[in-house]
Amino acid sequence: MNSIFKAAVAGTGAYVPEKVLTNKDLEKSLDTSDEWITTRTGIKERRIAADNESASTMAAVAARQALESAEVSPDEVDMIIVCTSTPDVLFPSTACFVQKELQAFNSAAYDISAVCSGFVFGLSIAEQYLKAGRYENILVIGSEANSRIVDWSDRSTCILFGDGAGAVLLKRVEQKESIGVLSTHIYSDGSLSDLIVVPGAIGKAGVNKKDIDDKNYFIKMSGNATFKVAVKRMSNVILEALEYNNLKIDDVDHLIPHQANQRIVSAVAEKLNFPEEKIIMTIQKYGNTSAASIPIGFEDAKRAGKIKPGDISVLGVVGAGLTWGSAVIKW
Ligand code: ACO
Repeated sequence: MNSIFKAAVAGTGAYVPEKVLTNKDLEKSLDTSDEWITTRTGIKERRIAADNESASTMAAVAARQALESAEVSPDEVDMIIVCTSTPDVLFPSTACFVQKELQAFNSAAYDISAVCSGFVFGLSIAEQYLKAGRYENILVIGSEANSRIVDWSDRSTCILFGDGAGAVLLKRVEQKESIGVLSTHIYSDGSLSDLIVVPGAIGKAGVNKKDIDDKNYFIKMSGNATFKVAVKRMSNVILEALEYNNLKIDDVDHLIPHQANQRIVSAVAEKLNFPEEKIIMTIQKYGNTSAASIPIGFEDAKRAGKIKPGDISVLGVVGAGLTWGSAVIKW
């Protein structure tokens, strides 16, 4: 679609809970080791939401920062998209709680569910509304209280995940502006839905004792199979983004990948011949924060002075569904 408008990131924000859970802490309750977790995943520690925190409270903090850095007031926000697979409750949407907290009552607020790919899916939706000229300011937030849906006795999954939130304020700008979201590409393959799943029935058969006894309200993952699919899909969709924008690896200042596993990112970088020093990684500090991992990466990199005006970042994600996608942002 040719448009006189495009979307641009005008502000960013992120929040992680104070409580740190280290690999050493996990050694006390699980048959695991800091050495195993570090070498297999790159993770050293993750953050855990306090009892009074949830996806909506973390999202609101990150969103407020994004609004402040964009110098946009809550009543100027046209839409709030919360990307989460750990909503506070089944309904209303977590986005409605965030709207209430921000007092952003001129917005349409809703959640989307694309698990770890959520943020890029949200970015893609927001981009279309802004390009169409319909709206001016859209908050896209990834927020996850993963600690609430991991089985803390399952060493193959619980070591991976952490809690946190990240947000961007996307603004409608004219095509001639130098900054902007240059592209988004998103995909799904439901035939791979068994790879990572929280299988407990809600709408299908109601919350039931068997699912509770079988721990089906927690994440179940075929880690190895997911790993292989993740490397292939993420590499291909990043290549697609580069080709779409006529960019070479040398033109890109950073790769900001979903933080599922350091080894997945290294394998993608190797396949693409992407220099490791240009990759933004936060997994060592926060683990896999699912839909929050990309916008947490933005904020972390900005605070470290790694993202400068004019830089080009390519994003790559893969998550349950299976879902995957990429985006290119000029800052
Ligand atoms: N500590 C010690 N040993 C462990 C642990 C642990 N925490 N977890 C598993 N093991 C053992 C296994 O039991 C197995 O033992 P065995 O050989 O005696 O059977 C051995 O380690 C190897 O297990 P694998 O599952 O083959 O280990 P792998 O190297 O594949 O690493 C991991 C597992 C980290 C989960 C990896 O497969 C992975 O990262 N997968 C991808 C995850 C991902 O990308 N998810 C997508 C996003 S998540 C989302 O969308 C919600």
